[in-house]
Amino acid sequence: TEIFRPERENSRGWDLAHRPELDALETARDGYRDTVFTAAPLIAGDTPPGPEVQTTNPALPSDTVGRVRNASADDVQTALAAATPWTASPSERAAVLKRAAALYEDHHARLFAILAREAGKSLPDAVGELREAADFLLYYAEQAEGLTRPPRGIFTCISPWNFPLAIFTGQIAGALAAGNGVLAKPAEQTPLIGHAAIELLHEAGVPREVLQFLPGDGPTVGAALTSDPRVDGVAFTGSTETAQAIRRAMADHLSPDAPLIAETGGINAMIVDSTALPEQAVRDIVASAFQSAGQRCSALRCLYVQEDIAPAFRKMLFGAMDELRMGDPWHLSTDVGPVIDAEARDGIADYLAAAGGRVLHGLTAPQDGLFIAPSVVEVGGIRDIEREVFGPVLHLATFRPNQLDQVLADIRETGFGLTFGLHTRIDDRVQYVTERLAVGNAYVNRNQIGAIVASQPFGGEGLSGTGPKAGGPEYVARFTQPEPVATAS
Ligand code: NAD
Ligand code: ALA
Repeated sequence: TEIFRPERENSRGWDLAHRPELDALETARDGYRDTVFTAAPLIAGDTPPGPEVQTTNPALPSDTVGRVRNASADDVQTALAAATPWTASPSERAAVLKRAAALYEDHHARLFAILAREAGKSLPDAVGELREAADFLLYYAEQAEGLTRPPRGIFTCISPWNFPLAIFTGQIAGALAAGNGVLAKPAEQTPLIGHAAIELLHEAGVPREVLQFLPGDGPTVGAALTSDPRVDGVAFTGSTETAQAIRRAMADHLSPDAPLIAETGGINAMIVDSTALPEQAVRDIVASAFQSAGQRCSALRCLYVQEDIAPAFRKMLFGAMDELRMGDPWHLSTDVGPVIDAEARDGIADYLAAAGGRVLHGLTAPQDGLFIAPSVVEVGGIRDIEREVFGPVLHLATFRPNQLDQVLADIRETGFGLTFGLHTRIDDRVQYVTERLAVGNAYVNRNQIGAIVASQPFGGEGLSGTGPKAGGPEYVARFTQPEPVATAS
């Protein structure tokens, strides 16, 4: 018998089912329950004092989490002038990135506390996120070791708030592994975890002029960092609309050769046919739609259930939803935490109010904090969903077997192609369905969130992203100069 031996190992993570490990972790994290964290620009040059804003916990408005000083226009110019590629050898760079992964793990309790209080992350989500960040560092360090091509130069890395450590770190690690200098802008909602990560990367040995941190909002700091000709490429993760705005800015101001590596949104579907195991499907739907309060790009947005099983299936799904507990993600008993900010809460609440009688099932959200109750909205199909609703809102449609091709055509026609789920016990159907869709990550008889670095490269097709896939073998190479193309005269 051949035994599978992975060539490499991901971060071990933390075993929350092991009581002593969990107790130690919670005790260490409790030490940061009241800490007021800080974030400010970390650049190679002077950054004069400026106004600070206070940030609060989305689950507990009375909890002041941090004080943030955003980058000024002068800070951006200082950083751009000082920015330089990383001249260390590939193996030196790899060693530094591996050291950073170890430092992230050493500082896990503080990072878990910031993730909970700034970004509303439950402990299991925070554990997954820190593991993913460490895995990106380790995997891209290995890719650095095999590189022969030079870096592009200076990369701007712009990330979203929903994976403020993992995606933030992944982009930076990819660019650094290839030897680029990096200007990193975190999402305006999550500068504290970004600041903590950059300090650890500096401590690991990334020079300050190679990796600079510029907190601030998109239209000012983000726009300045993506429209300056000193920038040689942009790595972006966030909404499709912002990616399009960045592409336009780059076309106007950057070299035509500067790449945009964009990972964007999706309206992700799942199909459950009448052969599926209902208990398993329900468990996977609840995780896919409501874990992380639905604030994952990979989350399930539109569920198609075969018509003949739909009434019983709905009942089972609603029963499972009734078991979900909403509240402060600091507590392990919480299943669904808050949404990220008041704008998100109000936007989703307005969407549900407009859906009116089509809201089939909803729970009652806690009064304090920025909560949206997990909800199910009835739709005729995915065509009725006009935009990505980034929260715990699941759309439910039914289909008859002779409508399967139309369902697949409708999913294709959204133009998005991030994740897709299928629950079936008909083997042929797996190939039939997946061949007819253009999605980055298709999952069969499981949930559709939580791709694992190096095992399940993650990224979308069409409006969902440009590639290369994050956590995949081609990621770091995209941050290097392209192979010269030989042309015959
Ligand atoms: P967003 O597009 O609003 O913001 C993302 C980042 O872009 C932030 O740092 C923001 O400050 C910056 N930004 C905004 N306007 C800018 C501009 N004009 N120029 C430069 N930068 C600008 O997205 P979000 O609300 O933070 O994140 C949620 C979105 O991200 C969802 O659409 C989700 O699907 C997507 N997402 C995709 C992936 C993926 O891997 N495909 C992963 C996570 C999130
Ligand atoms: N990589 C994240 C997931 O798969 C977005 O859920």
